[in-house]
Amino acid sequence: SKGNRRHFMEKEIHEQPEVISHTLANYLDFSKGTIRANVTPIDFAKVDRIAASACGTAYYAGLIGKYWFEQIARLPVDIDVASEFRYREMPLSKDSLALFVSQSGETADTLASLRYCKQQGLTISSVVNVRESTMARESDAIFPTLAGPEVGVASTKAFTCQLSVLASLAVVAGKMRGTISDEDERRLVHELSEIPRYATQALKLEQQMEAISRDLSQVKHALYLGRGTSFPLALEGALKLKEISYIHAEGYAAGELKHGPIALIDESMPVIVIAPYDRWFEKTVSNMQEVAARGGKIILITDERGAAASTLKTMHTVILPDMPEIITPIVYAVPIQMLAYYTAVFMGTDVDQPRNLAKSVTVE
Ligand code: M6R
Repeated sequence: SKGNRRHFMEKEIHEQPEVISHTLANYLDFSKGTIRANVTPIDFAKVDRIAASACGTAYYAGLIGKYWFEQIARLPVDIDVASEFRYREMPLSKDSLALFVSQSGETADTLASLRYCKQQGLTISSVVNVRESTMARESDAIFPTLAGPEVGVASTKAFTCQLSVLASLAVVAGKMRGTISDEDERRLVHELSEIPRYATQALKLEQQMEAISRDLSQVKHALYLGRGTSFPLALEGALKLKEISYIHAEGYAAGELKHGPIALIDESMPVIVIAPYDRWFEKTVSNMQEVAARGGKIILITDERGAAASTLKTMHTVILPDMPEIITPIVYAVPIQMLAYYTAVFMGTDVDQPRNLAKSVTVE
């Protein structure tokens, strides 16, 4: 049931602190500050690379995971949308770990990619939400997300739970590969344990996100920009907006702006910039300047330090608390989901059952 919420999507957005906490507890021991996940039969020390694939929002979760595995565990990750992966005939090594991300565990292209990798003799692992699903059954190792049933077609809590699992696994891999120390492990586990608290604070931005959505519901096009792990989140933000509000949105790596999309910027173009005050911040600010100089309307999603450091005039500035870098894509997902949600509500679309879409895509 929707409880006292208007839509399942709204309910599922609000469930995030709880289900993320539940999911993380499956992988991490908060009180000891250590990893608790058992990843048998996988030995990350012996894995030469991860071959990952997924579709839609699950693919964006995988893209963010790539940044974490590469940075924390020094483990290279190839990631593709499953509909390309399965036909690409890429050379695969038996020492690579095949990794699939799926809420339903039934998506046709992802399942076909899984079976292809199995045929090639790779160890198969899946981050899935539905424990009884086909992908779960056919995997050597299952990494469950404990998001509970997700009813809204637009994925919200499954996404942040997928990210929570992938971040935890990157720490596990880093530990097994000796790329992080015991002290790093304790720090990272502590940082991840803080996600539910920050997500609760992010949910308090609801009224502001609703007010921004009122403006957004007036436009035909929007651009999302981000760097680092905020880049895949920009892709996810654009997908969410398209799916449920039917506004045409594009996500771009901020650095790509001047390689084409800047031509689109004028006074009628809202540009949503995801920019926590991290090591990429200054670069993103210079991209924002380019947008501002062309009259683009900036909606900046940042933190206290970012808001203090940027003197640019924006249409709206959304301020989250300062938080550790690793958790920003998970927490920043919350205002981005609310933005899509309220924009769709203002547009009067069918939020939980958007036109032309199905919750689980079991045909190719
Ligand atoms: O069940 P899956 O996670 O495999 O589904 C993948 C995509 O179909 C799904 O994430 C889709 O993009 C959502 N509607 C996004 O909100």
